[in-house]
Amino acid sequence: MSKHAAGIAGMGVFVPEKILTNADLEKMVDTSDEWIRVRTGIIERRIVEGDTATSDLAAEAAKNAIKDAGIKPEDIDLILVATSTPDMIFPSTACLVQSKLGIDGCAAFDLQAACTGFVYGMTVAAQFIETGMYETVLLIGADAFTRHINWEDRDTCILFGDGAGAVVLKRVEAGYGLISSYLAADGRGADLLKIPAGGSANPGSEETVRDKLHYVQMNGNAVFKFAVRILHEAAIGALANAGMLVEEIDYLVPHQANIRIIDSAAARLGIDKKKIIVNLERYGNTSTASIPLALNDLYLSGKLKQGDNLMLVGFGAGLTWGANIIKWY
Ligand code: ACO
Repeated sequence: MSKHAAGIAGMGVFVPEKILTNADLEKMVDTSDEWIRVRTGIIERRIVEGDTATSDLAAEAAKNAIKDAGIKPEDIDLILVATSTPDMIFPSTACLVQSKLGIDGCAAFDLQAACTGFVYGMTVAAQFIETGMYETVLLIGADAFTRHINWEDRDTCILFGDGAGAVVLKRVEAGYGLISSYLAADGRGADLLKIPAGGSANPGSEETVRDKLHYVQMNGNAVFKFAVRILHEAAIGALANAGMLVEEIDYLVPHQANIRIIDSAAARLGIDKKKIIVNLERYGNTSTASIPLALNDLYLSGKLKQGDNLMLVGFGAGLTWGANIIKWY
């Protein structure tokens, strides 16, 4: 076992003020509150306005996490931002967050694993602490997907919301903190969920704008089937790596994409529904922010106690999937 383990020393979130309800969407596309509730579980979501970018959401969540951890921004050795909706292609959103926190010098980079970004990020961030290279890492999951939504496409515009969640990771006693991770990807499914233009394969042009290629495109049905199967696989993978049984998990914090995905996977896993943290009715699918937003709800509930085992499970574009098991310190 590694000498150092990485544990959560503080947490913070931030969501934009503006609420978009299902009733608002009824006025924009041919949909209904009932359809959205029944098919997804979502009731409302937060959306960015004006010139608010992903780095703004990320920096506010980071400030809250820094305060909660009782550290100073100067104590941070590394800023790692998991996002698929960076402010721009480069520089990294992590560098922009660093500047917004009023610090310089520490390492900063972005990680892209779509909605699995926070789980990938947790795994990567923990390595720096486990090896002894860094003492304090700021991990942020932040996305502003509504910036890339075609508001005329009812298949996708009802699903997404914006937000950010951050954790401060520090050394904890071995045996606590992150005890197991499982990460996976299958690039053969890359076409199922993507933003086709704006990158080097298809740079922005009059044609890409005309053809609406800067918006999220998704094969919802295929992603749904993938998600149900893979949420189960990721959970089993992390349990196997930890040598644990599903009964030993006290709380499951899944990516908040769709209540039907969570319910089916939970039934397959055989985990008590009372252990599952769900808040997608308020925020929709906030991509990398969804797991830390749900984790923060659990944290604020005051239920968490030392020794509790939490499982975070993510899945998303790439395709990517993964899970972390954390023993609460
Ligand atoms: N309102 C009303 N009707 C709609 C809407 C809407 N907003 N959207 C689709 N429909 C219609 C369809 O056109 C279709 O009509 P038809 O039968 O006449 O063709 C009908 O509803 C059923 O459509 P399905 O796509 O079969 O509906 P489904 O039950 O699969 O639900 C949904 C669609 C909610 C998108 C579901 O497939 C889903 O949640 N998929 C996973 C999406 C997801 O989680 N993506 C994010 C992954 S994470 C990341 O990396 C970003």
